[in-house]
Amino acid sequence: MTGVTIRGLGVSLPEEIRTNADLASMVETSHEWILTRTGIVERRIASATVATSDLALGAARQALANAGVEAEEIDLIIVATVTPDMLFPATGCLVQEALGARRAASFDLEAACSGFLYGVSVGAQFIRTGTYRRVLVIGAETLSRIVDWSDRSTCVLFGDGAGAAVLEPAPEGEGLLGVVLGADGGHADLISQPAGGSRRPASLETVLQGEHTIRMNGREVFRLAVPAMVRASEQVLAQAGLRVADVDLFVPHQANARIIDAVGERLGIERERVFLNIERYGNISSASIPVSLYDAETGGRLRPGDLVLTAAFGAGLTWAAAVWRWTGATGQDRALSRVRSLLEPGTWES
Ligand code: ACO
Repeated sequence: MTGVTIRGLGVSLPEEIRTNADLASMVETSHEWILTRTGIVERRIASATVATSDLALGAARQALANAGVEAEEIDLIIVATVTPDMLFPATGCLVQEALGARRAASFDLEAACSGFLYGVSVGAQFIRTGTYRRVLVIGAETLSRIVDWSDRSTCVLFGDGAGAAVLEPAPEGEGLLGVVLGADGGHADLISQPAGGSRRPASLETVLQGEHTIRMNGREVFRLAVPAMVRASEQVLAQAGLRVADVDLFVPHQANARIIDAVGERLGIERERVFLNIERYGNISSASIPVSLYDAETGGRLRPGDLVLTAAFGAGLTWAAAVWRWTGATGQDRALSRVRSLLEPGTWES
């Protein structure tokens, strides 16, 4: 049992929907512009009383239920987010308390849109070394809180939501087959929330100048995102001894449908093998990949045994790719995959 798999997935998406038409009444934009330039039709917006930890908690509870795991059985909680409830304490600790995961260690991880795959990579190391048996990795965001709603170049892109995954040991060759991480801090200025940290502490001036909202050079991010996601995807496939032709489904970070098209094209993955849900959620950063995996499985696009390629890119800059032999994570075939893992010789004691 030196493998690691996602045993259960869960999501939490706010009910409120903000359409492109809603945005067109707020800033100088149109449904046509947003759809053709990004692929987005609508996004979810958290109500005023809901914070990132609330969305994370909802996703975590569903992931635990789908994994058939109790909160007390979780050893570690990693929350990937750029929109924590507070700068400190960690949102992960708030989730740990609300979940009743008394045995779990917990911390936040900040790698923007690549955060979920970074979290999976970290969690998988703990499982592989035998330090922990069950790691809960959550990607959760309330980006609507840090969007400048008067800036049409960014406010149309982002949304709120959370996705969570319970990682567990699995037989070698099942679940996570490889992961590649990367970063380039030389482009840190391309996407940032400039104030509120130690460099630019919150002040009247930072508030008046709107420095607590997202600043982004979209065109440059676009230019760098495509080759980085392609390279990471090729590297992770090569690392696992696989080829693009082996991939049943490509589940990329959902930032822009044109980025996804360009990455798919360069990799040689035709549209039928690419998963898209950006039209419904926009860019939900660290939540994008787990929500997409959940939607892909519950929508019948992803089945146990399928080879899945995931890739992300975001602020930092950061990027990541992972390749999986899918074992079922939303209840559909979970019982079967669990029985198989328990029958495997050398199974860990619970
Ligand atoms: N409605 C109408 N017009 C707009 C809008 C809008 N919402 N936004 C920008 N425009 C205008 C611009 O002002 C510009 O007008 P101009 O030519 O008169 O100056 C024109 O449209 C073209 O602007 P570009 O920025 O060149 O448009 P582009 O085709 O690059 O699309 C976009 C912009 C959608 C932001 C794209 O660059 C993109 O998706 N970039 C990647 C962003 C991303 O992936 N971020 C992920 C990381 S986020 C994270 O890590 C948290």
